[in-house]
Amino acid sequence: MYILGIETSCDETGVAIYHSTKGLIQHTLYSQIAMHNEYGGIVPELASRDHIRKLIPLIEECLQLSGLNKNDIQGIAYTAGPGLVGALLVGAAASKSLAWTWGIPALGVHHMEGHLLAPMLEENKPGFPFVALLISGGHTLLVEVQGIGEYQLLGESLDDAAGEAFDKAAKLLGLAYPGGPLLSKLAEKGVADRFKFPRPMTDRPGLDFSFSGLKTFTMNTFNKTEKTEQDKADVALAFQQATAETLAIKCKRALKQTGIKRLVVAGGVSANTKIRQNLEAMTKKERAELYFPRPEFCTDNGAMIAYAGCQRLMAGQVESLEINARPRWPINELILL
Ligand code: KG4
Ligand code: ZN
Repeated sequence: MYILGIETSCDETGVAIYHSTKGLIQHTLYSQIAMHNEYGGIVPELASRDHIRKLIPLIEECLQLSGLNKNDIQGIAYTAGPGLVGALLVGAAASKSLAWTWGIPALGVHHMEGHLLAPMLEENKPGFPFVALLISGGHTLLVEVQGIGEYQLLGESLDDAAGEAFDKAAKLLGLAYPGGPLLSKLAEKGVADRFKFPRPMTDRPGLDFSFSGLKTFTMNTFNKTEKTEQDKADVALAFQQATAETLAIKCKRALKQTGIKRLVVAGGVSANTKIRQNLEAMTKKERAELYFPRPEFCTDNGAMIAYAGCQRLMAGQVESLEINARPRWPINELILL
């Protein structure tokens, strides 16, 4: 069965077509980053309006590129939350309207379920169970995944998400939005071990994270320097090192606690090379397997939503015609399959 996937939870309009046995057929994406860039962050109202402009043309493009037509589509999966309410409503309203006119079901998908199942789009996919580390601009979660739809939240960020911390630290260093990749690039020129940053919440048991202290530490450290280019790079490196080590320590703990020897990492921040290297070293030592989706499926995309929705539609999940968005939607409130 061909499923159309629609992602509009934040600043990317993503559309994809996934087939239950043939796999991913096609995906298209439009990023709004350039538009939000001049405001130094995402402007929710502009995001909603841009999704309205781009969504239908992207669906048409995706259908055309795949050589399919609307009669081939047997279900629509859209991101119902969490995310920006206006942006989510664009995807939900478009999906429900199309599904109604095409006479097929539409189903709301949890954005983070999409992220944690993204590695299933790859040829070399992880088996179950696995521990998933989801690190994006809005979320930092550690989840035990026993199967599709069987998720146990192990830990989450108590304040800033990992990507948010990267973006805020980058802003303090005068970098543009979104600063994560720029901070990472700057850190390449940094001198190691000049500054020693804390590894938050690693000195006590538990799997929760806290990154807001690192941001304050970044500000205080940077303010004590002369703010030269080298100072910036050294602070960026120390921040990145602290974040990467903290994430690796928590993942090691999660693997130990669950007895699972398989780690899946997804979300925009997993594009970070240093974080990848630290997790590679840790899993090698622990003799655990490590999986990353390809970079374009680490960040927001329609393919992961089409995949997750396809699994749920095949399992018989249905919803009413009502147009719903859940800007806040804890992952442990997901309906089990
Ligand atoms: O998953 P994603 O595309 O969107 C959300 O759902 O939030 O993640 C975006 C986040 C941003 O905070 C961005 O700065 C961060 O991922 N990011 C990075 C890197 N690439 C993207 N952070 C650190 N290093 C990177 N290379
Ligand atoms: Zn995301």
